[in-house]
Amino acid sequence: MTIITPVAFPAARMRRMRRDPFSRNLMRENVVTAHDLIYPVFILDGTNQRQQVASMPGVERVSVDLLMKVAEECVALGIPVLALFPVIDQSLKTYDGIEATNPNGLVPRAVRELKRNFPELGILTDVALDPYTTHGQDGLPDETTGYIMNERTVAMLTRQALAQAEAGVDVVAPSDMMDGRIGTIRTALEQQGFIHTRIMAYSAKYASAFYGPFRDAVGSAANLGKADKNTYQMDPANSNEALREVALDLAEGADMVMVKPGMPYLDVVRRVKDEFKVPTYAYQVSGEYAMLKAAAQNGWLDHDKVMMESMMAFKRAGADGVLTYFALDIARKLKAA
Ligand code: PBG
Repeated sequence: MTIITPVAFPAARMRRMRRDPFSRNLMRENVVTAHDLIYPVFILDGTNQRQQVASMPGVERVSVDLLMKVAEECVALGIPVLALFPVIDQSLKTYDGIEATNPNGLVPRAVRELKRNFPELGILTDVALDPYTTHGQDGLPDETTGYIMNERTVAMLTRQALAQAEAGVDVVAPSDMMDGRIGTIRTALEQQGFIHTRIMAYSAKYASAFYGPFRDAVGSAANLGKADKNTYQMDPANSNEALREVALDLAEGADMVMVKPGMPYLDVVRRVKDEFKVPTYAYQVSGEYAMLKAAAQNGWLDHDKVMMESMMAFKRAGADGVLTYFALDIARKLKAA
């Protein structure tokens, strides 16, 4: 697209419209509302449990009883969806991550409790094995080569997604990057009668160093050690490949697609939105949050201003919504304004 400027200075003075608040308001192209937010929360077993996440100031892991207070505030602020990430006890972690499929595991229990108390609040659950495995990988490694086995992982993920759907979750979000998982999960959901369960596919999920604090938060960092996820997550060098991933996930039955990380990948968000024009989301991941928080804590950046500006940047790039650990802070600020 070429920008046609019919006139030059001084007929065109770009600063005229910027001069007063009324004309700035009048020409604003994008807006951030509480409805754009998805709030990720880390959940724990037990009751009345609350732990700070050291590398994510202001973020805590909470037990399911305390999660209800969080949900209540989300509803009051107009945040449409809460995303659950479990902290699984080491004693429940195995090589195959079978606890992920337990219909009475932490995540299904939290989903039931949330839907019972707040039926109007959307609940999203992650589909991946890393919180449940002793090696911290999202799938099942071949015992000799360590290569993550695609089809066997997809079979486990499908059981995990069904356990979440049975518990009443609204959105399942496969974050594992196996090939064909969206199609297999969609078929299983349809066959079991879960025709309303939405799938938000982590379609363009990159092998990123920005996930570090998250792996601390769910306790998978130590298990993963020096290993990487490069055989399934995408190479940060690529964006044509992201379009192909999105096309496949849509063909397999995804309702929504996601790009992750967020701020360093806004070019990918824009390309996906322009190409497919489907509901498109971005994940402002743990490392992005940690980076902004650390600078703000040092007094180097204005916390609220960079938080709101980063959210506007996602909207401008074409995101319909953003998973962000700032969701509560943003919604509170919007309400107060
Ligand atoms: C697990 C998963 C990860 C994140 C969301 N789901 C970590 C990973 O892939 O290693 C990262 C979220 C964040 O950094 O905030 N599959």
